[in-house]
Amino acid sequence: MSRLVLIDGVSTPSERAQVSVYDRGFLYGDSVFETIRTYGGRLFALAEHIDRLARSASSVGIQLPVSTEQLAEETLRAVREAGNAESYARVMITRGSGPVDLDTASAEQPLRVVMVQPLTTPPVEYYRDGILVRCIETVRASDAAGSAKLGNYLASALALRLARDAGAAEALVVNRDGLVVEGPTSNVFLVKQGTIVTPPLEIGVLPGITRAIVIELAGELGLAVDFAAYPAERVVESDEIFLTSSIREVIPVVQVDDTVIGDGKPGRITGLLHRAFRQRVGLDGELPHDD
Ligand SMILES: Cc1ncc(COP(=O)(O)O)c(C=O)c1O
Repeated sequence: MSRLVLIDGVSTPSERAQVSVYDRGFLYGDSVFETIRTYGGRLFALAEHIDRLARSASSVGIQLPVSTEQLAEETLRAVREAGNAESYARVMITRGSGPVDLDTASAEQPLRVVMVQPLTTPPVEYYRDGILVRCIETVRASDAAGSAKLGNYLASALALRLARDAGAAEALVVNRDGLVVEGPTSNVFLVKQGTIVTPPLEIGVLPGITRAIVIELAGELGLAVDFAAYPAERVVESDEIFLTSSIREVIPVVQVDDTVIGDGKPGRITGLLHRAFRQRVGLDGELPHDD
């Protein structure tokens, strides 16, 4: 099991991997990134992640230092060199270093970093029993940048901290209009009378790669999909709720704040979609707690 870092394409043992304190990623969170995982040792949806990274960079005016093809190739190389059974890969582009100055023009050359480590996934109880979440109102840096995946996750980290302090496993982000938009690092789905509902991208949610696959799978299963966002009082009226992300796949939510969702157990449709997702990624449709 090993961790490995590529800095500007150069492979570095993780304990010696260093970047400048003048890097704007460090100074201002002036960076974009992706997190990707492997299935059977192969990076899943790599092209989609690299495309989204390029869109995030473009939306904040960071020039990609190399082509998307080269970024993909370097990520593959890092995973190969790390040699883990399953890996987590984080690909970051910062605007680069320069004098300490807010002006983005002060940066000289964007920096690219690929970090790979053994994959860790949530405890199986999360999938078997579902999780409790807390609604936290906050405003994120990405809300000002068209839902780009920016390096600055401070508001989301604080939302998660508040949720955890209140005994929840996860937060649900409530925007300034009082609508539940997504998790700190996940998209949110509701099931209402057999229809799958998820907030529309225009409201300011990350276009999740897992979200897109789940929407497609719902269609294949003959389930209606609707795009809408609700305040917490309406969210808790759902029959089922689940979160999606590349690392965590599909996580059932069984309680929001003080309200138990449905019968307090992971929902049937949530399970169906998760099984379909596991089939799609080559895991024979088995759920993490099936063994
Ligand atoms: C804010 C946010 N929303 C949603 C997601 C889920 O996206 P994906 O399914 O592409 O991992 C993430 C993933 O990190 C995220 O940070």
